[in-house]
Amino acid sequence: MPSNHTSMGVTFIGCGAAVPETIVSNDDLAEVVDTSDEWISSRTGIRQRHLCHDRESLAGLATQAAQQALAMAGVAAVDVDLIVLATSSAEDLFGSACQIQARLGATKAVAFDLTAACSGFLFGVVTAAQFLRSGVYRNVLVIGADLLSRWVDWSDRNTCVLFGDGAGAVLMQGSGDGDRLLGFEIKSDGTQNACLNLAFKPELRELLPGAILTQGKYHYITMNGKEVYRFAINRVPDAIDKVIHQAQLTSTDIDWLILHQANQRIMDAVAERLHISAKKVISNVAKYGNTSAASIPIALNEAVRSGKIKPGDTIATSGFGAGLSWGAAILKWGK
Ligand code: COA
Repeated sequence: MPSNHTSMGVTFIGCGAAVPETIVSNDDLAEVVDTSDEWISSRTGIRQRHLCHDRESLAGLATQAAQQALAMAGVAAVDVDLIVLATSSAEDLFGSACQIQARLGATKAVAFDLTAACSGFLFGVVTAAQFLRSGVYRNVLVIGADLLSRWVDWSDRNTCVLFGDGAGAVLMQGSGDGDRLLGFEIKSDGTQNACLNLAFKPELRELLPGAILTQGKYHYITMNGKEVYRFAINRVPDAIDKVIHQAQLTSTDIDWLILHQANQRIMDAVAERLHISAKKVISNVAKYGNTSAASIPIALNEAVRSGKIKPGDTIATSGFGAGLSWGAAILKWGK
């Protein structure tokens, strides 16, 4: 049964990540579509991506990431209360989170999927925080995992060069001793929905005279790159600025900026608008491409495990993407 304490805070005490084995470089991709390493790297900063093969799965990668986060936090799987899986590429439209719960042996946890594309991890963190702050739950795993290689049109050079596969996770724990989520903002603008989609493509089927059904498949990812770019460089700095103020900080108090890893040019432009030094920008987009909901926790995990991010450091983070949706948060790493 959930307990019912109030005035609880949130801490971020474990992280992990897993990516598929197969690496595909820009030069490799130039054998598939009419592109070049020069075009891709100068426009996006991406040099390679990891792509899932048939023996790997979303649930498998997500479970590995979650196990690492639990180990770092020193929390047993049986003590997890909630698993939020942020994904837009679930292996089961009924949800993939319960498969992860079973693989982890998190027998007590309730598990559900949350779909908000590249904003999904951030939305997941904010969702988890509500359960922790209310005291309903103590240990929450937030996982961001996506295998967009399954949904990319590999003959469309406008999109296929951008995405990669992977999973990342954090363990958030309730704390009676302060709140390490210092501010957040999450937003949606459905009027721009057509800019980035992985949409259902109905095919009509007449089941009975007068009963025409729409059965079909999901279409490949479609994107208006220029619109999405414009949206990101306008909305993201505003959102981060707002949460910095909410946290009663200034941009000089930010130790690290971890943006959704979509494009190096977007990261550079956002940092510049916020007057945050390039040295504080955590970036690994060159190695992984855009891994959608996984990109922020993969970047966080690398920076924590390499010793860049230390306990007590203040991190500004922002996710953005399809919806269109976006959000930002300020958090302090560690207990
Ligand atoms: N290789 C070579 N040429 C390519 C190409 C590729 N992979 N993809 C597109 N092109 C071509 C286009 O066909 C177009 O050619 P045309 O002018 O003859 O029609 C031209 O390059 C467009 O180039 P440019 O205007 O310089 O592109 P851009 O600066 O707008 O960059 C993106 C394109 C996609 C990199 C950029 O718009 C972007 O990053 N947008 C955000 C996308 C994103 O991050 N989406 C996910 C958000 S979560």
